[in-house]
Amino acid sequence: MRRAPVDAERQQLHSTTSLGLASARNRERVLEETCIPIQSDGDIVGARQNGRGLAVQLGFSPSDLTLIATAISELARNILLYAKRGKIILKLVEQGETRGIIVTAHDKGPGIPDISRALEAGFSTSRSLGLGLPGVRRLMDEFEIVSDVGLGTIVTVKKWAK
Ligand SMILES: Nc1ncnc2c1ncn2[C@@H]1O[C@H](COP(=O)(O)OP(=O)(O)OP(=O)(O)O)[C@@H](O)[C@H]1O
Ligand SMILES: [Mg+2]
Repeated sequence: MRRAPVDAERQQLHSTTSLGLASARNRERVLEETCIPIQSDGDIVGARQNGRGLAVQLGFSPSDLTLIATAISELARNILLYAKRGKIILKLVEQGETRGIIVTAHDKGPGIPDISRALEAGFSTSRSLGLGLPGVRRLMDEFEIVSDVGLGTIVTVKKWAK
């Protein structure tokens, strides 16, 4: 009779431990991280080159390096155009056997009122082509936007080295 609570405790301890291990396995381990303030055209070029320089370390093909650099410059261009200033964070990460690059574009600009429209090819509030965000989405493996009107926008994209 007295063993029951002990068994229950052990059971709990065991499941907590294996849960801990599982989440550690799924977590991205950051190998390298850099933050680039964006407030001029020169910063866009810098972010693009910086991203390419980091990604090359993971063995991406030359064409993948160009896609990554293009995604970074589109996100940085949007920061400059719509929010005036912000930052691009570049991270090299490892998840299990896979390594990749995570690009996060942050700004405290006007935000995007209708994200699904902003992702449609051809939608632009600046009479431009409206191809930036849909292009970035297509070029990268993972894509996420969080945006609040009046607060700002965070776009996170990831590409995994094959
Ligand atoms: N960081 C941002 N802050 C606020 N609005 C944004 C931001 N990024 C994009 N948008 C909105 O989403 C729309 C679509 O962006 P997207 O980059 O696809 O096209 P574009 O910038 O208008 O044109 P292009 O990038 O082809 O020159 C923009 O016109 C703008 O209204
Ligand atoms: Mg754009």
